[in-house]
Amino acid sequence: MPPEEMLHQQRQMATVRAYWESMQKKPLAMVVTYGCQQNENDSERLRGMLYEMGYGFTEDKEKADLILFNTCAVREGAELRVLGNVGALKHLKARRPGVIIGICGCMMQQEHMVRQIKSKYKHVSVVFGTHTLYQFPDILFRALVQNLRVFDVTDSEGEIAEDIPVYREGDVKAWVSVMYGCNNFCTYCIVPYVRGRERSRRPEKILEELRELASRGVKEITLLGQNVNSYGRDADFSMDFADLLREVNRVDGIRRIRFMTSHPKDMTDRLIDAMAECEKVTRQLHLPVQAGSSRILKEMNRRYTKEQYLALVDKVRAKLGNISMTSDIIVGFPGETEEDFLETLDVLEKVRFDSVYSFLYSKRSGTPAAQMPDSATEEEKHARFDRLLEVQNRISREINEEYGGKTYELLVEGQSKTDPGMLTGRTSGGKIVNFPDNGQIKPGDFVNVKITKVSTWSLAGETVSGQIGNG
Ligand code: 5AD
Ligand code: SF4
Repeated sequence: MPPEEMLHQQRQMATVRAYWESMQKKPLAMVVTYGCQQNENDSERLRGMLYEMGYGFTEDKEKADLILFNTCAVREGAELRVLGNVGALKHLKARRPGVIIGICGCMMQQEHMVRQIKSKYKHVSVVFGTHTLYQFPDILFRALVQNLRVFDVTDSEGEIAEDIPVYREGDVKAWVSVMYGCNNFCTYCIVPYVRGRERSRRPEKILEELRELASRGVKEITLLGQNVNSYGRDADFSMDFADLLREVNRVDGIRRIRFMTSHPKDMTDRLIDAMAECEKVTRQLHLPVQAGSSRILKEMNRRYTKEQYLALVDKVRAKLGNISMTSDIIVGFPGETEEDFLETLDVLEKVRFDSVYSFLYSKRSGTPAAQMPDSATEEEKHARFDRLLEVQNRISREINEEYGGKTYELLVEGQSKTDPGMLTGRTSGGKIVNFPDNGQIKPGDFVNVKITKVSTWSLAGETVSGQIGNG
C-alpha cells in the first residue's frame, strides 16, 4: 500500500475527529459482526479507526450515531438476517436522519447485493467491501461531512494495508491475521470470490504486532487465515507456515499459540513437526473435513479422499499425541446420497472430533456447486443434519467425560458468561472450564484446575496445586 494512501486516510481520521469536536459531541458507533474470526478481526480494525476518529462504542442502536454491519456471505441465512436487520432500521433513520447506516464486508463484494442495497435500502448511506476496508476514514468523511451516499466496492485486491489501528476487547487473547484470501475454490464456497486471492502478510509485520500484543500482557494468540497453512506460498519471501510458527514461538510473553483454518491438503510433515517442537503451540487442531464420501469430496474440489484424511489424522495423532480435533462439516451438498452421508458419520466415529461445526449446504450463486443437480429433499437434509448432531453430541460428551477427575492448566479469561460468580478459563486443547473465584485469580493468570463436573458442552472444576495433565 503506498504510504501516501495511508497518510490520506490518517488525515481523514483527523478531519472526522475535528468535525465531531467542533460539534462538541462524543459520537457513538455500533459495529455488528457476522461470520468468521477474520470478520471479527476486521471489525477490530474498523473500531480502531473509529476510535481514532473520536468515536465511543455502544450496543444500543437508539444511542448510536453510526450503525455498521460487517457482513458474511458464506451462507444465505446470514445474508437474509443482515437484510432483515438493515431493513428494520428504516424507521429509526426516518426518526433520526443524522444516523449513518453502513454495510461492509463479504456480502458487499457481490454486485447483485450492492445493486439491491442501492435501489431498495435507501436509508443505507455507506457501503464498502473487504478490499477497501482501509479506506473507511475517507468513506465515512464523505458520508458524514459531505453528506453523500458512498458506495466503494472496488474489486482490486491489491496489497495488504498495514498499520490500520486496531481496537481489541479484552487483553488476555488476541487474533492476528497472517494472510488474507483463498486460492482453493472449493465448489460450494463464495470466499475466494469475495476475499480474493491469497496474500500473506510479511513475517516482520506479524512479529511486530505480536511483540506489541505481548508487551500489553496478551498471553494467547490465534493466527488467522482462510487457509493458514499455505502461508508464504504467494510471497516474495521464503518462509512457510511451519517457519512462521517457529518464529512466533520465540516471541517473549506469548504463552499459547493457536491457528485456524488449516486445509488437510496442506498439512505437511514440516508443519506437524513444527507443531510438535513448538512448546507454545496448543494441543488442538481445527481441520475441516467437510464430508466423508470421497466422491462428494471430489465434487467439492477438496483434493483429498476420505482415506487420505483419516491417514492424516492418524499421522497427526502419532506425532502430537491425542490432541483435541475439531472440524467443519457440510450436510446436503448437491447429489449427496444416504450412502454418502453414512460415510460422513463414519468419519465422525473414526476420528472422534471434540466438536464439529456443522452446516446445511447453502447454494451460493456464482459458485460451481450452484449448477450441480440435486436430488435430496429439504426434509431429508434436515433429518441428516439432526442425525449428525446426535452422533457428534454423544461423542463430544464421551470425550468430555474422559476429562473428569483430571487436572489441567487453564489460561484464565475472566468471569464466566454462563455461570455468574464463576471464573472461566481454557485448556491448551481449547476446552472451556468454569471454576469458583477465590478472589485472588485474575484474567491472564494460569491456574491448575481439577475437573469435577462434566457435560456435553462444558466442564467445571476446582483450582488445585501440583501435577497437571496435557489437555
Ligand atoms: N454452504 C454451507 N456451508 C458452507 N461453508 C462454506 N460454504 C458453505 C456453503 N455454501 C462452511 C464450510 C467452511 C465453513 C467456514 O463454512 O464448512 O469450512
Ligand atoms: Fe472456502 Fe475452501 Fe477456501 Fe475454505 S478453503 S475458504 S471452504 S474455498
